Amino acid sequence: MTAKTENIVILTGSGVSAESGVATFRDKDGIWAKYDYRDVATPEGFAANPDLVHSFYNDRRRKLPSVEPNAAHIALAELEAGLAARGGGLTLVTQNVDDLHERAGSKNILHMHGELGKATCARCGAVCDCVEDLSVDHGCSVCRQNGGMRPYVVWFGEMPRFMDEAMDAILRADLFVSIGTSGSVYPAAGFAGEARAAGVRAMELNLEPSENAYVFEDSRYGPATKVVPDWVREILG
Ligand code: OAD
Repeated sequence: MTAKTENIVILTGSGVSAESGVATFRDKDGIWAKYDYRDVATPEGFAANPDLVHSFYNDRRRKLPSVEPNAAHIALAELEAGLAARGGGLTLVTQNVDDLHERAGSKNILHMHGELGKATCARCGAVCDCVEDLSVDHGCSVCRQNGGMRPYVVWFGEMPRFMDEAMDAILRADLFVSIGTSGSVYPAAGFAGEARAAGVRAMELNLEPSENAYVFEDSRYGPATKVVPDWVREILG
């Protein structure tokens, strides 16, 4: 990239955490090869079998302390600091519910699909930190009612969080970069097209071409721990 790249928006997906040992969704051994998303990632699935849904997210939450940020997460945190030091900025929009970007040092993060480390009360809307297992018996520490606690994650059929903030950042950016996502879930999959329509350059870094690879003007293919640090070095010089 030769043009100025000072304000960057990055969208990450599960591929950026794959080499940390966090499962992706649609790869051969991915999460959706083992579970039907309708059972564990929809409001209807939760209503039908809350124990199954709690156990699905409890298992994933329990694994978080044993995984570490990888070279791609760390490079993205360095990119944020490097751009800020020269007057630019980075907005990191992630579909991931893990906390590896935070633990690598990224600050300006929008978790559009929520966070495993939080729970929310369907009765009063309170959001709280959650490091323990959730169950149907769990009480809300704010409204004191039982039975309404659910993982603070966005399910299919629900509105992703921070959409206005993400779109505002994309429209102000001079580069949009999609990293480690298959481009199969909207609205995130539409960001690259929105960027291009607004005259913002778009590139992807992924193991292989994603479903909407044709939208991007530039691309780097390979494992995130290799292609992301290489690209960050190019940007920071
Ligand atoms: P997917 O499983 O759909 O896609 C993962 C992408 O990461 C694929 O394009 C892989 O090629 C790529 N990938 C795998 N390993 C990689 C590596 N080491 N380095 C770089 N890329 C790698 O996961 P997402 O795109 O994150 O939503 O899925 C998006 C959403 O669908 C998730 O947030 C989740 C899921 O259903 C909900 O649960 C609501």
